[in-house]
Amino acid sequence: MKILVMGANGQLGSDLKKFEIIPFTRRDVDVSDFKTLHTALKSVTFDVLVNCASYNRVNDAEGHAEEAFRINASAVGEMAVACRKKRARFVHVSTDFVFDGATTKPYVESDATGPINVYGASKCMGETLARLYGGDVITLRVASLFGVAGSSGKGGNFVETMMRLGKETGRLTVVNDITMSPTSTHDVARMIVTLLERGAAAGTYHAVNSGQATWYDFACEIIRRAHINADVIPVTSAEYPTRARRPLFSALDNTKITGVVGAIPHWTEALDRYLRQKGYST
Ligand SMILES: NC(=O)c1ccc[n+]([C@@H]2O[C@H](COP(=O)([O-])OP(=O)(O)OC[C@H]3O[C@@H](n4cnc5c(N)ncnc54)[C@H](OP(=O)(O)O)[C@@H]3O)[C@@H](O)[C@H]2O)c1
Repeated sequence: MKILVMGANGQLGSDLKKFEIIPFTRRDVDVSDFKTLHTALKSVTFDVLVNCASYNRVNDAEGHAEEAFRINASAVGEMAVACRKKRARFVHVSTDFVFDGATTKPYVESDATGPINVYGASKCMGETLARLYGGDVITLRVASLFGVAGSSGKGGNFVETMMRLGKETGRLTVVNDITMSPTSTHDVARMIVTLLERGAAAGTYHAVNSGQATWYDFACEIIRRAHINADVIPVTSAEYPTRARRPLFSALDNTKITGVVGAIPHWTEALDRYLRQKGYST
């Protein structure tokens, strides 16, 4: 099975490079240039396209809706068409931010979407276009990613930011009223490959580590497990305003995907593995 990965230099794409893939980076093709995108996809033989390319700067997207929609929605539709023409599978990576967060129960795949910021709206439109224009499409919703490569779009990841600020300042203030599913890109990459190897049915899957946490819970575990001497202070999101609104609750239920790939590690287990990989004793 020949797997082409778009966005191969990103945080998730980098973990997919551990498997046998054809890596495409922005240098190979800018997905917002649709003519070049189609030419590039025509010129290479593949059975599956995994799209990890994305406009990921959630706050910046508020002022750059056109660019965010071009990359996260229109380009996704173009990729879906190209895959359908080639009879290739299309695996598209989406986000927990397609939901509005007005719940306290982890979202299942069939729950209604209702994005509350531009980034979420653009990703939600991407899901729709992939479904409308594509043939054999798997949409994977991931969330709150941490991976050894760090997010190129966000300039690192939350784990690294907490460890750096913890060491530098000895005091972290972290929001405690937003709940999500911390997720390792190592585990998502493995889930993608296993889904493909096992011929998973087309459709939407929530591909996250097990368990849920507030950002404060997550920060406490990072600081404790990495043995960093810092106080972690809980604050509300009202005390830490950001340009884009965030869903207050976006934990995802991963029961459906476990039916195909088997048990998925708890996020604390994934965090320990990440810290060991980065050379921290846990
Ligand atoms: N990070 C998170 O916490 C998070 C949460 C929920 C969902 N997700 C989703 O998970 C996926 C992977 O995220 P990630 O953390 O791996 O992101 P990332 O590290 O920012 O990687 C995104 C990749 O997309 C590439 N890209 C951006 N615009 C492009 C363009 N016009 N043409 C070609 N390539 C382009 C980037 O290239 P450059 O390296 O050249 O910029 C980068 O390699 C995305 O679909 C994202 O929406 C992420």
